[in-house]
Amino acid sequence: MKTFSTTARLREALASERRNGRRIAFVPTMGNLHDGHLQLVRRARDLGDIVVVSIFVNPLQFGANEDLDKYPRTLAADKEKLFAEGVQYLFHPGVAEMYPNGMGVQSIVSVPGVSERHCGASRPGHFDGVSTVVTKLFQIVQPDVAVFGKKDFQQLAVIKKMVADLCMPIEIEGVNTARDEDGLAMSSRNGFLSRAERELAPFLHKTLQECRDAIACGFDSYDELERHARLALLDAGFEPDYFSICDAQTLDKVTLATEEIVILAAARLGATRLIDNVTLNFN
Ligand code: PAJ
Repeated sequence: MKTFSTTARLREALASERRNGRRIAFVPTMGNLHDGHLQLVRRARDLGDIVVVSIFVNPLQFGANEDLDKYPRTLAADKEKLFAEGVQYLFHPGVAEMYPNGMGVQSIVSVPGVSERHCGASRPGHFDGVSTVVTKLFQIVQPDVAVFGKKDFQQLAVIKKMVADLCMPIEIEGVNTARDEDGLAMSSRNGFLSRAERELAPFLHKTLQECRDAIACGFDSYDELERHARLALLDAGFEPDYFSICDAQTLDKVTLATEEIVILAAARLGATRLIDNVTLNFN
C-alpha cells in the first residue's frame, strides 16, 4: 500500500493507473477504522481495480462545540487494517494541504433541500463541510466510483444530490450499516461510551426497529409513533435530538408517492451523539 500526503503525488500515481485503464474506487473516511469502514473497502474492491482510501479528519464539518480535537486518530492501526484488506493507495493529507488558504476563505459547496433537516438542523454548517471536502477529494482522486455507508443516510443523500446537480462523472454506491452483535451501529464515536452507556446504546436501534415494525403492521399515525419513540428514548436515559419518519428519497414527510420509508434518529447518550436509521419498502 502506498501512502501519500500531498495532492500532487497522489494525482501523479493515479494518473498512471488511469492511463493503464484501471477503474478507481474511492472510500473517503476520517479514520479510526472499524468493520463498517472495512465493509466499504470490500465493496470498493468489488467495484474497481484500484482502491483509494482517504483518512482526513475534516475541520470544516465540525461545529465550534463539537469533538474535533477529541476525534480519535489512530493512523498506525488504520494503515494495518487497510493493508490487510489489499488497499493500494492511502491518502492522508494534513489540514494545510486540504485548506492551504485557511478555512475562512474556502469556496463552499452547499446542497439545499436534503441537507437542511435532521442532522443539518442540529449541526449548522456540517453538511456544507462534508459536501465541500468530498468535492475536493473527488477532484483530487477523480474516482470512477465512490462508496459511502448508509449509516449516515442523510450524508449519502447529500452526496448523491451533489453529484447529480454538479454533473460529477462518479457513481455513488451505498453500503448497509455494519452493526455489533447487539444491534449498535458501528461508529468511531462508540469508543467514547462508558460501560453503562455502551450497554444502553443498542436501545436506539431497537426503538427504530419497533417503529418500523409498527408501520409494517399498518400503523400510520406517524406523529404519534415519533412522539412515542422520543419518549421511550428519554425514559431510557437518552437525550433525543430527532426521531423522524421520512420519505427515503426526499428525507421529508411521507406522502402518497413514497416508495421507501426511512426512519432517522439521533440521540445523545452522555456526551456522545449517536445516529442510526432503518428503512422499509412501502408500496
Ligand atoms: P467517517 O465517519 O469516517 O465514515 C466514513 C464512511 O464510513 C462513511 O461513508 C460512513 O457512512 C461509513 N460508515 C461509518 N460507520 C459505518 C457503519 N457502521 N456501517 C457502514 N458504513 C459506515 O462520514 C465521514 O467519515 C465523513 O463525513 C466523510 C464522508 C469522510 C467526509 O469527511
